[in-house]
Amino acid sequence: MHKSVYDIIKMKKDGKKISAITSYDYTLASLCDKSGIDILLVGDSAGMVMLGYENTIPVTMDQMCMFTEAVSRARKNSLLVADLPFMSYQASIEDAIKNSGRLIQAGADAVKLEGGISMSETISAIVDVGIPVMGHIGLQPQTTMLSEGYKVQGRTKDTAIKLIEDAKELEEAGVFSIALEMISHEVAQIISETISVPTIGIGSGVGCNGQVLVVQDLLGMFEKIKPRFAKRYLNLSEDIVKALENYKNDVESGTFPAQENWFSMDDNEFKKLREQIGS
Ligand code: KIV
Repeated sequence: MHKSVYDIIKMKKDGKKISAITSYDYTLASLCDKSGIDILLVGDSAGMVMLGYENTIPVTMDQMCMFTEAVSRARKNSLLVADLPFMSYQASIEDAIKNSGRLIQAGADAVKLEGGISMSETISAIVDVGIPVMGHIGLQPQTTMLSEGYKVQGRTKDTAIKLIEDAKELEEAGVFSIALEMISHEVAQIISETISVPTIGIGSGVGCNGQVLVVQDLLGMFEKIKPRFAKRYLNLSEDIVKALENYKNDVESGTFPAQENWFSMDDNEFKKLREQIGS
């Protein structure tokens, strides 16, 4: 049986830290799930790391459903949360409920959406139909065009107070957890101590109840952006390019394929074939 949102809430109560990682495809999701990580997040960051967009704005519901289905086929143990992409929930509460339902039908256990107080009614409505919601405050990549871009949030008293109020309002609206993206560590710690549901931080310091990273950042596979907050546990892009160069050289030199990589006819059948075609 895989983890539920109640298991995640209980981890905070028990003082256990929560690990989360993004997942978008069957192969990597199988490995993430096997590692025992608590939450697999099908983030709309898929648009950047899987599809090569400049930001998350072009990501569609159809794409999010496809990624979610792939991850759900791999998932055995972790909780599976999927992002509602840009414009799938902002225009109306009906859109938000319908599109949350699509992600649940694609295999998610819960959905995540960006926004503070302005999203509380939408969140309540989604929770009311029985779909768990993870909130997301701080840096909100779907609306960076309204702000100063990819900047740390909550560095002044007033912005800090706004974030703390947002977090309390989301808790009130019924979220089971809140992602805190690029919030100053002091404010992230205050929020984590103030609300009862777990906070999952990305670039928000060690005071959060859990941490999330983009899997390609952790594995060192995404070269375009290297966020300071992401720890690289491997340099996989170097190893992958090295392996591909070795393959290319082997093909060119005839070293690949070798006998163990090909298949043979039965000796007698081959003899008969040669007699018939006269070679
Ligand atoms: O899409 C994503 O990867 C996210 C994380 C940054 C939390 O929302």
